[in-house]
Amino acid sequence: MVFLFIAFAACEQKKGEAVQPIVVETPVRPAGQKDVIRLTAPKIDTVRVGFIGLGMRGPGAVARFTHIPGTQIKALCDIRQDCVENAQNILREAGLPEATAYYGDENSWKQLCDRDDIDLVYVATDWRHHAEMGIYAMEHGKHVAIEVPAAMTLEEIWALINTSEKTRKHCMQLENCVYDFFELTTLNMAQRGVFGEILHVEGAYIHNLEDYWSSYWNNWRMDYNRNNRGDVYATHGIGPACQLLDIHRGDRMKTLVSMDTKAVNGPAYIRKTTGEEVKDFQNGDQTTTVIRTENGKTMLIQHNVMTPRPYSRMYQLVGTDGYASKYPVEEYCLRPEQVDTNMVLNHENLNAHGAMPEEAKVAMMNAYKHPIHQELEETAKKVGGHGGMDYIMDYRLVYCLRNGLPLDMDVYDLAEWCCMAELTRLSIENNSAPVAVPDFTRGGWNKVSKYQHAFVK
Ligand SMILES: NC(=O)c1ccc[n+]([C@@H]2O[C@H](COP(=O)([O-])OP(=O)(O)OC[C@H]3O[C@@H](n4cnc5c(N)ncnc54)[C@H](O)[C@@H]3O)[C@@H](O)[C@H]2O)c1
Repeated sequence: MVFLFIAFAACEQKKGEAVQPIVVETPVRPAGQKDVIRLTAPKIDTVRVGFIGLGMRGPGAVARFTHIPGTQIKALCDIRQDCVENAQNILREAGLPEATAYYGDENSWKQLCDRDDIDLVYVATDWRHHAEMGIYAMEHGKHVAIEVPAAMTLEEIWALINTSEKTRKHCMQLENCVYDFFELTTLNMAQRGVFGEILHVEGAYIHNLEDYWSSYWNNWRMDYNRNNRGDVYATHGIGPACQLLDIHRGDRMKTLVSMDTKAVNGPAYIRKTTGEEVKDFQNGDQTTTVIRTENGKTMLIQHNVMTPRPYSRMYQLVGTDGYASKYPVEEYCLRPEQVDTNMVLNHENLNAHGAMPEEAKVAMMNAYKHPIHQELEETAKKVGGHGGMDYIMDYRLVYCLRNGLPLDMDVYDLAEWCCMAELTRLSIENNSAPVAVPDFTRGGWNKVSKYQHAFVK
């Protein structure tokens, strides 16, 4: 199946004519299928979970689940037996029964999905296995949670959407950064109008992976970068940005344009570590993408895993009445009249040359602490996982499943955040031509008017 149908007028463009974006085909929704916007499923009293992929990331998830009430870890799977053993030890140390182990074969994971005593399959393998495992799990009656990026191509994305719509099973991407403390606090402020109308947001994955490349199973991550151009790891940056803009809850990403630098440090790393001269390394050291939304907002998304730079997910927002930025220091800037006067504030400092003073910032962040953090911050900081956000993500997933609520992130979020890989490549390979972002909801992007987390009333 190929979805690339291009309406491409750029090369024939005449002076004064607008450049038409490249359009990829949106497959017709199969007959009898409905969207899964605000999908609910029957409540599950005890969420029985099976984990696939127990390399660097997976065991942390197993450990976190030992702290989440209302869960049972039923099965553990990895190709490598020692990885499964290591995860069994986590259960032993927590005083929990051993889980059924699956290992040794590329397809052992299917036996885990075939069981009838599992509600949720949790996937933390390399990127190439994600979509296949998610689809199979849903086809076999399970909800599925998949590590980032949950899908690498449009074909995989549409297959996940169609399977979730057909089976009415949840398909959530495990994007943890939307639960980090600054992000969720700032989202709460944004939703309460603190920044006025939000016009522009930024997000990124800037993380020098030099010290990690050799640790990935079978070198999968460097290989992926070697063979694929574009922003292949956009979700940590774009996820929180999309939530700020209510994407497919009243707005939608419409057009993107992307550019990359040449690839220097990727091939240099391979030369240094193996002696191989790679002439056609695909992924640029830095990839930069700009997106415009239906409602006239813009987004700036960056990807750089190659050069020595301080870690950053950018996380910036520009509103008509204020500004927030997470890196390198967390800061806010507001109009004085926007600020709640009960908070200690030095209005003199709220000008074009400085952000809000530290004391006022802390007071405001406390005042706008998100209800999820009010409930979970203390435990999350104890259990950990990137400072606690991973625990909050897992807890929320289980909470929503146990209470029959729509999940915080649906399959369309997954689609919108993952489509960057293929669409940015398309733009870059066509001289940075504009590319239309498909409406993955197939007409439902405006059905809900605001992004919101579901709670038991
Ligand atoms: N959200 C985050 O903050 C975060 C952080 C790190 C990694 N990740 C994501 O987690 C995923 C895993 O990354 P990692 O760093 O653990 O990589 P890794 O290479 O350490 O682990 C991948 C594991 O998958 C196993 N595997 C591969 N094919 C399999 C199969 N057919 N059946 C069973 N097991 C199989 C491998 O044996 C390996 O143990 C990736 O998608 C990555 O992007 C997310």
